[in-house]
Amino acid sequence: MKIYKTENYDKMSEKVASLLAAQIISKPDSVLGLATGSTPEGTYDCLVDWYDRGLLDFSEVKTVNLDEYKGLAPEDHNSYRYFMDQHLFDRVNIDKNNTYVPDGLADDPQKLCDDYEKLIDGLGGMDVQLLGMGHNGHIGFNEPGGEFPMACHCVSLAPRTVEANKKYFASEDVMPKQAYSMGIGTIMKAKKIFLVVSGEEKAETLGKVLHGPVTPEIPASILKFHPDVTLIADAAALSKS
Ligand code: F6R
Repeated sequence: MKIYKTENYDKMSEKVASLLAAQIISKPDSVLGLATGSTPEGTYDCLVDWYDRGLLDFSEVKTVNLDEYKGLAPEDHNSYRYFMDQHLFDRVNIDKNNTYVPDGLADDPQKLCDDYEKLIDGLGGMDVQLLGMGHNGHIGFNEPGGEFPMACHCVSLAPRTVEANKKYFASEDVMPKQAYSMGIGTIMKAKKIFLVVSGEEKAETLGKVLHGPVTPEIPASILKFHPDVTLIADAAALSKS
């Protein structure tokens, strides 16, 4: 695993954006696997800034997102589709028909998951997968457990995840407790992975990811088995590694 340690969140975001920009410039029709949450917000802001300055072209880029809350409509302000539109898609020249996020309102969860997996395979897989990491070591919404879920699936969110994400909702009661997520197998099929981690509150888990055993109790630990992973983390996140 290649590791870039940056001084702070802003420098980390710039570094991730520059790696993604290099990917888009070298392969304009790249398939980017994208993440939501607070970690990539600064990265998306950088990409939008460079697009505004005429340095990037998203017209041929395709994207597939890691996950979506079950039960949220695309226009719901807490849906990940809405997040992506607000933070990136509506601010650059990407063709929205080439952006994919699981449908939180799907009638048939299993069909949704099977179709999402097929869609990804049909696109030829992700050239790059951007990943944040949960406090408990989750990637996508693959929560700690007894095994690594392989394919896209419907997941019950771990209490630690509900705790971390409830701040975005009016109350914990209205926050969905289930989500659709790419599986660990789906993520591991990406040609390249950028894992992005910020903040001291994730330092202990990141230390376990880097130095502990590969275990489904810490889902991100599986990334040590992927041949092309780059970790971009700020000094606070790496303070216990
Ligand atoms: C988001 C996702 C999650 C987040 C993780 C960290 O699409 O798949 O794994 O990356 O929960 O979230 P933040 O960045 O909000 O700490």
